[in-house]
Amino acid sequence: MALSDEFLQELKSRNDIVEVVSQYVNLQRAGRLYKGRCPFHHEKTPSFCVYPDTQSVYCFGCHVGGEVIYFIRKIENLDYIDAVKFLAKRAGMDMPEDNFQNNDNAVRQRRIYEINRETARFFHQSLTSFSGTEALAYLRGRGLSNKTIRHFGLGYAPNSFRLIDYLKSKGFKDEELLQANVAHMSKKGYLASRFFNRVMFPIMDLRGNVIAFGGRIMGDGKPKYLNTADTPVFSKSHQLFALNFAKNQSARTLILSEGYMDVIALHQAGFTNTIATLGTSLTQQQANLIHRYADEVVICYDSDNAGITATERAITILRNTGLKVRVLTIPGAKDPDEFMKSHGDKGPSLFKVILEQSVMDIDYRLEKLYDKYDTSTTQGKIDYLTQAMHIISISDNPIERNLFMAKLSEKFDMEKSSMEESIAKIRRQEKFRTLRNEKSQPLSENNTVNPEKKANHLGAVAEEYIIAYLICNPEMCQYINSKIREADFVTTFNRKVFTFISGRINEGKSVELVFLSQQFSEEEVAYITAYVSENARKSFSREELDNCINVLKKESSVKIRKNPSELVDEDLRKIYHNRRKNGV
Ligand code: GTP
Ligand code: MN
Repeated sequence: MALSDEFLQELKSRNDIVEVVSQYVNLQRAGRLYKGRCPFHHEKTPSFCVYPDTQSVYCFGCHVGGEVIYFIRKIENLDYIDAVKFLAKRAGMDMPEDNFQNNDNAVRQRRIYEINRETARFFHQSLTSFSGTEALAYLRGRGLSNKTIRHFGLGYAPNSFRLIDYLKSKGFKDEELLQANVAHMSKKGYLASRFFNRVMFPIMDLRGNVIAFGGRIMGDGKPKYLNTADTPVFSKSHQLFALNFAKNQSARTLILSEGYMDVIALHQAGFTNTIATLGTSLTQQQANLIHRYADEVVICYDSDNAGITATERAITILRNTGLKVRVLTIPGAKDPDEFMKSHGDKGPSLFKVILEQSVMDIDYRLEKLYDKYDTSTTQGKIDYLTQAMHIISISDNPIERNLFMAKLSEKFDMEKSSMEESIAKIRRQEKFRTLRNEKSQPLSENNTVNPEKKANHLGAVAEEYIIAYLICNPEMCQYINSKIREADFVTTFNRKVFTFISGRINEGKSVELVFLSQQFSEEEVAYITAYVSENARKSFSREELDNCINVLKKESSVKIRKNPSELVDEDLRKIYHNRRKNGV
């Protein structure tokens, strides 16, 4: 698979990195670059940088970095060619046909989508066939209408081998069924269906492709739910159940529940903006995905202890992602599904009421805290208020903090100024703590990409400047080539980068970062991106270039003297040349 340079270049110029990243990250301008909170790891202080000059990103916290295709691969969880397609679509460009159709990965994924679609069709048909009688009765007994069952494509996995036979008759191979995880190899060495005698919930991606299944046992038994394991088209920590239906909301509010049945019961009751995770706790990637379709999330988890703990975690992740968070507590029922069932026809209107009564996350936490203390005693009051300051301090919005302080100040008949002081102190400490934890040195000498940097620090820094200069000012290639050669590079990695870049320029090709991935690994590209971007940020000068060239020449002659065994032909030539010159 090779895409032409012209195509990649146009793709890049039509997808400005700042615009693309802004759709996922809240960016703030900081001089020549933009900064925001990294979408790939948890952080409070922004260390994710977007560099318009080099059209690249780099995170100083988790060291993820690269150009626009790389960014999309990572954030959309796509392979290279699908990320290219994604960006082409975004820019309204056509893909060059021949290039991507033979891609192994894309072919494999397409086969899995087809298997899943056929499997979903088979399960759904089984539900209305004789063998599905019990399963259909189970779903009807849980209050689902025929319309809901059809809408969600619910089904039944029979107690037989018919699915395997059916899929094989459609031309799918054993190996493909295993990859899609609809089958597994039994101990006796034949292919068996993964799901037996369960009601089936198909899981769809945003485009409506079936990517996985959840299967529930009817009645008691373990495991209660069995899900598809991760496959080339499915990652349970990246997907959300029913987001394909819920995303089309103009209100930009989503209800987050715990289970498949909660989602389905709420959709049936008209709350079609409900989604759920897939049996695991909420991840950062899922929060990012939510943020693309919503500004506010109402957490509606089970009312048991596990649900309360999960609510706490979800509040933290969602708030750090920049979402507004509300919490809905279900009175008198374990979960939304039970609530709907126990209230019958009145369910929808009653749920609407409790939805309107859902409270902001800070209110929720303050209420939970209040239950823990006896505030009729002085000590109880002090303890409660002290802890309450920690809860309020997590808000980055001074107005929000002020409002909550005002509430407490009224409730406890107490001056607001002491609260302000206390919160300011907590925020200072917190800032210091996170700065200390998040500070890290990406271009330090302890890196695995260029291990030789440690022993050749000065030379490597000079090399990095020269390479960055060359990438950003390719017209200076001839000049640089006249002053310095490959052999002068003291670290093998940078020598390889220099050879690649100047090789491209000498062939008349362009040298933007977007082309590095043809030759270098992800980690290597991140590293190169980081030093090119950092040098570009400080801006270039001819004087500094000459300075670095001199430093590098000196370093390389020192290295040669120290380690004669590492000499390459070019080095040897140079030594003889110097010796002659110095009359040795
Ligand atoms: P019902 O009992 O059918 O109402 O399910 P629920 O949605 O109330 O389930 P529960 O609150 O027990 O679990 C919530 C979600 O966690 C489910 O929808 C599943 O996604 C997941 N889950 C529950 N039990 C299991 C299990 O045994 N294994 C796995 N992998 N996931 C489970
Ligand atoms: Mn339930």
